[in-house]
Amino acid sequence: MLLDGKKGLVLNVTNKNSIGWAVARAAHDHGAEVGVGAQDARMREKVEALVADHPRMRAHTVDFSFDDQLEALADEVRATYGKIDFLVHSAAFAKREDLSGRFIETSRDGFQLAIDVSAYSLVALCRALEGVLADDASVMAMSYLGSTRAVGNYNVMGVAKAALESSVRYLAGDLGVRGIRVNTVSPGPINTVAARGVKGLGEMIDYVHSRAPLKRPFGQDEVAGTCVYLMSDLSRGVSGQIVFVDDGYNIVGM
Ligand SMILES: NC(=O)c1ccc[n+]([C@@H]2O[C@H](COP(=O)([O-])OP(=O)(O)OC[C@H]3O[C@@H](n4cnc5c(N)ncnc54)[C@H](O)[C@@H]3O)[C@@H](O)[C@H]2O)c1
Repeated sequence: MLLDGKKGLVLNVTNKNSIGWAVARAAHDHGAEVGVGAQDARMREKVEALVADHPRMRAHTVDFSFDDQLEALADEVRATYGKIDFLVHSAAFAKREDLSGRFIETSRDGFQLAIDVSAYSLVALCRALEGVLADDASVMAMSYLGSTRAVGNYNVMGVAKAALESSVRYLAGDLGVRGIRVNTVSPGPINTVAARGVKGLGEMIDYVHSRAPLKRPFGQDEVAGTCVYLMSDLSRGVSGQIVFVDDGYNIVGM
């Protein structure tokens, strides 16, 4: 199997519809040992229930807003796995009121919160876990096309995703000297808890599916397939890239 002998983390998962859960399951199906993250004790109960049926999965708890939790995670990873071969950042947050209407209304603290949780968290996470990443590890983060296009209602999260994608490129430079690759995966809109925070998600999904070059539905499993490729040695020459998983929607002009 593609990921036999590999170990890694997928952070974080809310429920069975989370993109992270599809990624964790796919990695496990391909032979990996997978740590699955929950943001807090309440969410951990759900994650514990999900991982229970999977022999090579275990739950971890981490809130990216707290450096001490990132350090504690690093210690836990060192004790549990030694080194890890992949790290998936699959988390974002913005205030609901900043995900609808006019972007110009975004408050200072709403802007800072979105950037901190959704973009800076990748930098802090990579720094905290740098010592436990194997020399040929693969890091990936979930972004969205709203980073480079003005997508109605996506607003401050688009700005946060732009910062996330730029961070991926700088991290790819820093960590590349050790053979560690860092990439962005950019799914099209998929119905999840986080996505439902963006006003008009249903229309976004219909719009993208009606205009994308590929006419087959895409969802969590298509994103997970791309992540398995990025975790595997097949992608050993790929770093700093944005890989879109949106049926090709991002290339469409008219
Ligand atoms: N669903 C989509 O349409 C879509 C499209 C493109 C990109 N993405 C991205 O995919 C990733 C996963 O989102 P999802 O759609 O699976 O939704 P989800 O709600 O299932 O997952 C979002 C996760 O972010 C975590 N999170 C939020 N604040 C956090 C914090 N302070 N510390 C740690 N974790 C925190 C939540 O606990 C949750 O598990 C996000 O980065 C999202 O922006 C989603």
